[in-house]
Amino acid sequence: MTHEEYLARVTQYIKLDKNNQHHEDEQVVLDKFKHLLTYQTGTYDQDSSYQALDTFIKTHAEATMAPGHRNRVFYMALPPSVFVTVARGLRHNAYAQDGVNRIVVEKPFGKDLASSNQLAQDLGQLFTEKEIYRIDHYLGKEMVKNMMTVRFANIFFSQIWNRMYIDNVQVTFKEPFGTEGRGGYFDEFGIIRDVMQNHLTQILSLIAMERPISTDAEAIRDEKVKVLKCIPPIDIRDALLGQYISDGDARRPGYLEDPTLTNKASLTPTFAALVLWIQNERWEGVPFVLKAGKALDSAKVEVRIQFRNVAGNLYKNAARNELVIRVQPDEALYMKFNNKLPGLSYQTIQTDLDLTYENRYTDLAIPDAYESLLLDVLRNDHSNFVRDDELSAAWRIFTPLLHKIDQHDAEIQMTHYKYGSRGPDELDAFVRKYGYDRSNAH
Ligand code: BG6
Repeated sequence: MTHEEYLARVTQYIKLDKNNQHHEDEQVVLDKFKHLLTYQTGTYDQDSSYQALDTFIKTHAEATMAPGHRNRVFYMALPPSVFVTVARGLRHNAYAQDGVNRIVVEKPFGKDLASSNQLAQDLGQLFTEKEIYRIDHYLGKEMVKNMMTVRFANIFFSQIWNRMYIDNVQVTFKEPFGTEGRGGYFDEFGIIRDVMQNHLTQILSLIAMERPISTDAEAIRDEKVKVLKCIPPIDIRDALLGQYISDGDARRPGYLEDPTLTNKASLTPTFAALVLWIQNERWEGVPFVLKAGKALDSAKVEVRIQFRNVAGNLYKNAARNELVIRVQPDEALYMKFNNKLPGLSYQTIQTDLDLTYENRYTDLAIPDAYESLLLDVLRNDHSNFVRDDELSAAWRIFTPLLHKIDQHDAEIQMTHYKYGSRGPDELDAFVRKYGYDRSNAH
């Protein structure tokens, strides 16, 4: 691309914040921003490319910066196969000598525990853990960032947040579209590696971890690692796997009909429900059910914390209390509780204490996850990034099951579900087995 083509390409996505509190003209803002952008091409595996980049940064960007403040952030939006090659090229040829360096890496961080550890070791020889930022963009989502606040800034949750009062926890990820156009990538990874080992496990650790000693990044990450270490590898009997098929409409083809998929006999799951057990004093016996699927009936990411039944039978219609944290769409937090039907009746009805963000925080804009995380990189705040030991703790939980799937182990059973459905028919019975009471659902 020429510099002009590059500018045209990146700025087509830039829109002014919908609140536009400064009442600026969109074109003026965009023009100002364009002046900050430069473009330099290179080849992954040639030192000369990185040397050229280094010279380019020195002449174009650093000329006006004070020594000691000539900091560099490298953001690797790259295929995983070149992570280490590029990191090495940057480290040896384009590392800032009079400022700090930071390198941002995107998943996939390996494919299993061994490959992830290898990647960590290779990167660790080039950049320090302080310099590395592993992005899990779910950690930049507003409701995920809110989880610690809800848990640790409210006294009424702290006392009941344990196995005595919580029956089961459901973390759900639903997407209404298939893998169209991404079949190549997806088939190699599957739904478990794509969103469960990372995004949903991050949510789980924020729900389950102990209170950190401070809000310092290392204190938070220490607690997340600790809780992950209490989870044994997933048992195949605690897994329900599925793959979508067409619902008969050509616009909604089955997974195996995706033209970008080369292995037409693939057994890669596009849906999974997996139960994780945390073996510690707080959570022993409470199933954490992670569910994720492509080509389902809706787009939704939410956490449902289902409390135990009230003892005795004073109120026969009383449903279970439930706390729902809706991550997307439409951020919300609501609590299902029982109330007397107003009026002469003494009937018990279930109702919601509802904090829907759109209604409550009408003039606050919620930043995109990446917006929030990239700002954290600039601020040198690692709280919402994945630490190396956290990554291996997460891979340890999923690797044996993933290997069984990869090797088409005889124990693996694949169910099928129609594009646009709620998932495999077996799902309801599966979640019921782990205590989930669906009569509560909307
Ligand atoms: C990505 C996965 O990490 O997360 C995608 O690779 C998935 O398959 C995406 O669609 C979901 O992110 P979001 O922010 O749209 O929920």
